[in-house]
Amino acid sequence: MDSTDLRPVLAQWATGVAVVTTLHGDGARHGMTASSFTSVALDPPLVSVCLASEGTTCRLIGDSGVFAINVLGHDHGAIGRRFAGQATGGDRFAVGRWRSACTGAPVLADAVAWVDCEVAARHPAGDHTIVLGLVRDAAVPRPAPPLIYHDRTYYEGIAR
Ligand SMILES: Cc1cc2nc3c(=O)[nH]c(=O)nc-3n(C[C@H](O)[C@H](O)[C@H](O)COP(=O)(O)O)c2cc1C
Repeated sequence: MDSTDLRPVLAQWATGVAVVTTLHGDGARHGMTASSFTSVALDPPLVSVCLASEGTTCRLIGDSGVFAINVLGHDHGAIGRRFAGQATGGDRFAVGRWRSACTGAPVLADAVAWVDCEVAARHPAGDHTIVLGLVRDAAVPRPAPPLIYHDRTYYEGIAR
């Protein structure tokens, strides 16, 4: 099936929105918006994210061996757009308060939740790579309604 026809079908699947972050060799930060975050196992604690293999984030995670998943809140639409390259220019980390988790990967101070991981495995899947992470640390800094994405639209500001 052609991807042009498949995209609008897959867009009907509503997801949360996460920012996947990692480090360069020199300690600089990088990250991207991802909806493909999934919990995989509890023992050992494993999560996955599916990334475009040619993308910068996928390459840098391969180099660093670490990443964090930041679950965005209902008021984090600007961060979601920024890390998806949908905002103009500049440092993606210019918006939001970021600090380093124990692996060194950046985590958002007011994320709904974050998990900090070491890469456990990388599985090529077509033009994407399934990255499996062994969770080293995790937190719920701000229990709040999540940011939802459906049919290319962010559902922002939805309170409980
Ligand atoms: C809501 C949303 C979810 C996304 N989810 C993914 C994803 O799971 N995997 C992926 O490879 N790209 C995803 N993207 C696209 C990337 O965020 C975008 O291509 C980004 O610029 C990649 O950055 P990089 O090339 O610096 O790694 C998503 C975009 C949006 C708007």
